[in-house]
Amino acid sequence: MSSSRREFLMSSGALGLAGLLGGVAPFGRAAHAAGAIKVGLLLPASGTYAPLGEAIRRGAELYVKSKGGALAGRAIEFTALDDESAPPKAAELTNKLIFGEKVDVLMGTVHSGVAAAMVKIAREAGVTTLVPNAGADAITGGLCAPNVFRTSFANGQVGEATAKAMLAGGVKEAITCTWRYAAGEEMVAGFKRVFEAGGGKVVKDIALPFPDVEFQSALAEIAAAKPQAVYSFFAGGGAAKFIKDFAGAGLKDKVQLWGPGFLTDGVEQAVGAAGDGVKTVLHYADGLTNPEDAAFRKAFQAAYGVAPDVYAVQGWDAMHVLDVGLTAVGGDVAKKDALHAAMAGASFASPRGPFAFSANRNPKQTFYLRELKGGKNVLLGVAAEGLADVGKGCKA
Ligand code: BEZ
Repeated sequence: MSSSRREFLMSSGALGLAGLLGGVAPFGRAAHAAGAIKVGLLLPASGTYAPLGEAIRRGAELYVKSKGGALAGRAIEFTALDDESAPPKAAELTNKLIFGEKVDVLMGTVHSGVAAAMVKIAREAGVTTLVPNAGADAITGGLCAPNVFRTSFANGQVGEATAKAMLAGGVKEAITCTWRYAAGEEMVAGFKRVFEAGGGKVVKDIALPFPDVEFQSALAEIAAAKPQAVYSFFAGGGAAKFIKDFAGAGLKDKVQLWGPGFLTDGVEQAVGAAGDGVKTVLHYADGLTNPEDAAFRKAFQAAYGVAPDVYAVQGWDAMHVLDVGLTAVGGDVAKKDALHAAMAGASFASPRGPFAFSANRNPKQTFYLRELKGGKNVLLGVAAEGLADVGKGCKA
């Protein structure tokens, strides 16, 4: 892929939003010349996770737009690179943003493998870093650093919350089925730790290479084993295909399909009726009743013509955390210790509910039990309240 294809300045989003902003300071090169804060986005713009990257970018841009295009009086300029969810490309692209583009703030990404490589560089460089999705446990575990903040979840954390909900729902036996890379492996490990401690039995683990979507042999294994439930992590295009293939294989009414909510978020329309009845657990849901979510949904729908998903919320909250930090330092990004201390202490009302970090700068949060019905991840209840990431090995 050519570098011009990979490198896409957020001009379309920026100009579109600038138009909407009317008289207020727009994003873009002119704003940068006048002292804009430069935010480098490392996100997938191609491949199975492209829609997730787009939702994160939209959420982040919408937050800035809602503040008139500036945070703490400083215009925000976004510069983006397509990471293609390809870990081998992560170091080069991260270096390009930090040392080439000289971004003030780095934000990325979706894929755990790409994010872990990015964070290894970012923590050494000391650049203010926001992780708006990737759940790699190490990011807020052994790789944690005072300049690295995650506004999403840790893989083990969401696995744990899903296990609690499945046990509470009477599931005693499951097969796990996922992609074989950090996100799938850690969401399965967190799930098994709690599910097995609670008396559940995992009878088989199935893993496919990322981003493989040839599910037929996995589904044949599931059909032959006839487990009570399947616990599955897939996301983006892969999740949509898995749900449709699961139903197509005749398993929908025979085996319960569960998973972390990435299985159904953002793919509700794509899966249609094949997804009805899939139960998931996530730190976001359709049908939350807090006023921040109502306002966020209205603004997102008006700006982009689609409903937001969890990825959009994580992008929005990343900018909110940055806003809290910048406000504390009067917009002076160079005051890193004070900026990072204020970001670590950020506590606000998010569309997902109350937002605050644990000591390792990963959200301590409520996980909701949802069921996909008629194209919505309908809220059924709370799966885990105030659940923190284990943060194993975090010393900073
Ligand atoms: C991950 O790689 O960490 C991930 C990707 C998509 C959804 C959730 C997690």
